[in-house]
Amino acid sequence: MYPFRFPHSLKPSICLIGACLCVGTMLITPPAHADNEALKKLMQSNNCMACHMIDKRKYGPQFNEIAEKYVGDASAVSKLAAKIKAGGSGVWGEDMMPPQPQVSDADAKTMAELILALTPGK
Ligand code: HEC
Repeated sequence: MYPFRFPHSLKPSICLIGACLCVGTMLITPPAHADNEALKKLMQSNNCMACHMIDKRKYGPQFNEIAEKYVGDASAVSKLAAKIKAGGSGVWGEDMMPPQPQVSDADAKTMAELILALTPGK
């Protein structure tokens, strides 16, 4: 005989389930797929089209290149959202992106998310 004791009661692990639900709702769900139409609308209404296109280099880097550059960078959304509002230079060359104070915080974050969700070639 093996000295093996079968547990008498299998209590449902309420704490574990609660923890999962809590963490689940706290996670920020990224867009499930790239929504190019929503991004284009925001680019138009926030005046980004003067310098950027999704799939062609204009004065500024194309958004596809930006998406590729930050693959796997967990802080990219907040970094790019801040850069969209404040502008800057030196990441893609000497050209300067002027500050865009007309962009709301919410739009800056949404655009950063949509840019990073781009999948070049689609
Ligand atoms: C006057 C031209 C101009 C306008 C208008 C402009 N940009 Fe830019 N943008 C640039 C340039 C130039 C760069 C490259 C800056 C650098 O090398 O750091 C850039 C870089 C970026 C980057 C990459 C930043 C990084 O650090 O990798 C993002 C994202 C971006 N722009 C988004 C936007 C959005 C969104 C708008 C509209 C709200 C916008 N830009 C409007 C010129 C512009």
